[in-house]
Amino acid sequence: MSENYNTACKGTISLNKEWVIMKDKQLTTNQGVPVTDNQNSLTAGERGPVSLQDVHLIEKLAHFDRERIPERVVHARGAGAHGYFQVYESMAKYTCAKFLQDPKKQTPIFVRFSTVVGARGSADTARDPRGFAVKFYTEEGNYDLVGNNLPVFFIRDPIKFPDMVHAFKPAPDTNIPTSSSANSRFWDFISLTPESTHMITWLFSDRGTIKSYRKMEGFGVNTYNWVNAEGEAVYVKYHWKPREGVETIDRHEATRLAGEDPDMATRDLYETIASGKTVEYEMNIQLMEIADELKQSFDPLDPTKTWPEDKFPLMPVGKMVLNRNPENYFAEVEQAAFSPGSIVPGIELSADKLLQGRAFSYADTQRHRIGTNYLQLPVNRPKVAVSNNQRDGAMQYAPYGGGTVNYEPNTLAGGVPHEAPATGTPAVYHVEGNIIRKKITLKDDYTQAGERYRSLSKRDQDHLVDNIVDSLGKAKKPIQHSMVDNLTKADVEFGKRVAKGLEIK
Ligand code: HEM
Repeated sequence: MSENYNTACKGTISLNKEWVIMKDKQLTTNQGVPVTDNQNSLTAGERGPVSLQDVHLIEKLAHFDRERIPERVVHARGAGAHGYFQVYESMAKYTCAKFLQDPKKQTPIFVRFSTVVGARGSADTARDPRGFAVKFYTEEGNYDLVGNNLPVFFIRDPIKFPDMVHAFKPAPDTNIPTSSSANSRFWDFISLTPESTHMITWLFSDRGTIKSYRKMEGFGVNTYNWVNAEGEAVYVKYHWKPREGVETIDRHEATRLAGEDPDMATRDLYETIASGKTVEYEMNIQLMEIADELKQSFDPLDPTKTWPEDKFPLMPVGKMVLNRNPENYFAEVEQAAFSPGSIVPGIELSADKLLQGRAFSYADTQRHRIGTNYLQLPVNRPKVAVSNNQRDGAMQYAPYGGGTVNYEPNTLAGGVPHEAPATGTPAVYHVEGNIIRKKITLKDDYTQAGERYRSLSKRDQDHLVDNIVDSLGKAKKPIQHSMVDNLTKADVEFGKRVAKGLEIK
């Protein structure tokens, strides 16, 4: 019988420590049973056929058949690293979040950088925003800051997000990307989405093509609230500044690298850390008093807008140091799950509509992409105890601590786990209005796009115009016309130059 199972009757393995099983020298099945022949299937005679009772073969093939999970609906291509975050000085004046109080404390973090549109195996240098997602394993649970390398976004209402992503991804009939083609679904959508004009001035500048994650900025994009122990709230926007400065490449180099070295940014991050060097970014914030939000010429909660830095100066908060590579890409990077809804006391979501939609979407997709108990995986689970009565579900792994009581409130377990005491005075927000579907009144889709164009150097303006003309030039003429209209509303010279490049009068 032992022959049938490809195992020997001798050999012991340790069941005591979880990962010892993986690291033992002796080959075993997933049940931990020793495998004595991993080269030959069990067959009737040496030439076959194969016997169904070769349980090792069946298990090996069946596990292999299931080695992929759904890729992320966006940001499928990514690279990650571990490290820590440390504040320069206490932020108690603005937030009671514990990890932002003590300059001596290092909070462990995991970061995942990504592109947005490309599939899991796509090129690192494609024109795209780059994701910049940071998970802080704080003493009050996990805080995720899920940002991008560009400071604004294409849309301001989450109801548009699925359409936007559909338009950016390969076509549903052919599975061919269409951004720069005669049938450009990207430009079709963008030309009908005037609030994206500002984002286009960033994405089609050379900021949209990079070759190293070490040399790009990060932005929270959405507005959050920081709340101190007295319950006083302030609006906050996040900026990450790379220690090594910002470096971009032009589209010709991006295209060349996409062919010659498509994994450039992934390898660059891995090899830098493997060589013993660290990768560092400084967290900066902009703050705005909530009382001032309606006094601005733009809507501060609109993620298609930046806050002018002369009025809302950057304040350095602390540094992030990446110093450890993942040991297993799938376990740590592919299964990493970030969500703007992962917040800790002292940090709250603002009313920013896009952010509110995001707070739902991430955990929802992760329950599908990874599974109900995705937060129990080592890369996702908090480094503090998780204590509640949410039970069971596929792949339940965490022990509950025993006992017969799985509800709250209770007396039978002495009322445990009980509600935690509040960290400070809760912030109170006043909301009023009719329930309606309506665009914000202060849309102003073009002013900041024009300002951005005029702030660029001559070279950067030339690249921006050239990059747009190169891509938009392949779209249908009516789409080109409506794009030129939008760009002209941002800046007349900008519109004229793109029109000239497209040979539009
Ligand atoms: C309504 C707007 C948005 C929706 C519905 C949305 C939804 C999603 C979804 C479903 C994922 C996949 C998550 C996963 O499978 O783990 C994702 C990933 C991501 N999103 Fe968004 N997103 C939105 C806007 C934004 C914005 C404005 C930013 C930047 C500030 C952003 C940054 C990211 C990043 C960095 C990731 C990758 C996280 C990782 O590395 O795993 N998203 N988004």
